[in-house]
Formats: sequence, C-alpha cells, structure tokens
Amino acid sequence: MSFDDLLNEKIDLLPASDTREAMRYSLLAGGKRIRPRLLYETVKGYGKEEHLADDFACAIEMIHTYSLIHDDLPAMDNDDLRRGKPTCHRQFNEAIAILAGDGLLTYAFETASKSRLDSAVVQKCISILSMAAGAGGMVLGQNLDIEEGEHPVDWNALKKIHHYKTGCLLAAPLMMGAVIAGQDDDTVKRWEQIGYTIGLAFQVQDDILDVELSAEEFGKSNSDERNDKVTSVTLLGIEEAEHQMHVLYGSAADAIRQEKGFDSTALTDLLNRIENRRK
Ligand code: IPE
Ligand code: IPE
Ligand code: MG
Ligand code: MG
Ligand code: MG
Repeated sequence: MSFDDLLNEKIDLLPASDTREAMRYSLLAGGKRIRPRLLYETVKGYGKEEHLADDFACAIEMIHTYSLIHDDLPAMDNDDLRRGKPTCHRQFNEAIAILAGDGLLTYAFETASKSRLDSAVVQKCISILSMAAGAGGMVLGQNLDIEEGEHPVDWNALKKIHHYKTGCLLAAPLMMGAVIAGQDDDTVKRWEQIGYTIGLAFQVQDDILDVELSAEEFGKSNSDERNDKVTSVTLLGIEEAEHQMHVLYGSAADAIRQEKGFDSTALTDLLNRIENRRK
C-alpha cells in the first residue's frame, strides 16, 4: 500500500463531514513526504522493518499538514496556493480550514496512540511528537515568526525562529526512528541535534526557493516579500544563504555517517535529494 493510500484509509475511518474532506484534501494534495521518509530511513538504517513506523509516519505528516493549513490562513501568511492547489481555506472556507487543522492535529495523536508497538515505545514517540509540535516547538516558532516585525531580527534571532518553526518537526521523525529501532536516550539526543541541523538547512533553503522559484514551480505562494518577512535571504544575501545551507546539510550528513550500528547510505541519499530539491 502506498503512503497516500495509508493516509486515505485512516481518513476514511472518520465520520463524514466537511472537516474530514478538508483534512483529506490537504493531506493528499501532493506533499513531498520528507518527514515520513526521514522516519522510515532511520528505522531501516538500523536494520528494522519500515512498516513498524507506519502509524508515526502518518502522525508526523498529519501534524505537518495541519501546520501548513494554519500557516496559510489570512491571519498568518495569507496564501492562496499550497502543494500546487488552492490552500485549504480557499478551497473550503476559513472556519473549515481551522477545523481541518484541529482535526489533523488531534487525529495524529489518536493514530499514534493506536500503534501496536511496545507501550513504552509508543509513549516515548507521543512525547516526542507533542513536544515538537506544541508551544515549546513548532507553535513557538510560528509565534516568534509572526512577532519578527516588532523588533530587529539578526541572524541569531532568525536561526532561533527557524529552529522552532521548522527544526522541531524535522527532528521528531529522526528521534522517533531511533526510539522505534530500540536505541538509547543518548542516541536519540544525537538524532535530535542532527534533525535541528537539517531543519535549519531546510528553512534556509525554503527562504532561498521562495525568491528563486515562481509560485507555480514551488507549488505554493512565494509570499515572503509581500509579507515583508525577514528571511535568510534578506539577512545574508542569496550567495551566503546558499553557502550556509550546503554547510549545514554537509554537517548533518557527516554526523549521520558517524552513528555506530547505522547504515547511513539511504538516509544520506535522501538528504542529498532534499539538498538538491527545486520545489
Ligand atoms: C514546508 O515544508 C514548510 C516548511 C517547513 C518550509 P515542505 O517543503 O516539506 O512541504 P510539503 O510537505 O512538501 O508540502
Ligand atoms: C512555516 O514557514 C513553517 C511552518 C511551521 C508551517 P513558512 O511560512 O516559510 O512555510 P511555507 O513557505 O509557507 O511553506
Ligand atoms: Mg509562515
Ligand atoms: Mg508560509
Ligand atoms: Mg517559506
């Protein structure tokens, strides 16, 4: 079964409503599935069966998709295009988009809680997910992001915003992968740091692509300039931002190769494809 089929099947289990269809619409609109793929490759790198991670792969993609639906709302970035399609509030309406985000966030935890893995593993993964998503994680990052106009933001302050708004949800799949593969707490902490490095690289790259690509190519509104955002590009310039991005991806790949008992080939290949993405 494809990952899209798996997600669709989970959505089918919910009672029919406009909210359910808006959840399905955004979830299946064609995301790159980077977070689930990071999770699966971490589990596989430890020689474990990837399907062990299915419920958590769905959960992280639901949380990520909710974050995008709310990020696009008029009160936030006010965008019309996402994953090559009208944003959720454009396709449905604002109220349904808010509810679809709420529904996805909640359903992520319901899905995770139903995993049949060992209950200590499930509990740890739910804890990782909740901390990454919540008001000490992605939500904090989004809060810092919308406040940035209120005071001067330098590169250190922007790195902090990127760390929370993007890094936390990219670190979570690596950490959960290590937990599912039976690794100890110190190992999980190292994966967390690797995830933050990837997250910073990924958001710097997102800021670069926002300038370089058309909305059509990017599959989403490139609205940073319209929204007067302080970004990696406005602070560093495009060349230095690109340099920083490559340094960060390189150091994440180096750290992955140093993990003992981990076959890094597939994960570093995935990282390489992310580094060379044009959407
Ligand atoms: C977009 O994430 C939001 C950022 C953190 C920059 P992705 O680029 O992974 O979005 P999808 O899932 O492919 O749509
Ligand atoms: C937001 O960053 C990341 C989230 C937590 C959703 P952006 O606002 O730059 O993400 P895009 O460019 O809209 O995908
Ligand atoms: Mg935003
Ligand atoms: Mg946005
Ligand atoms: Mg962006």
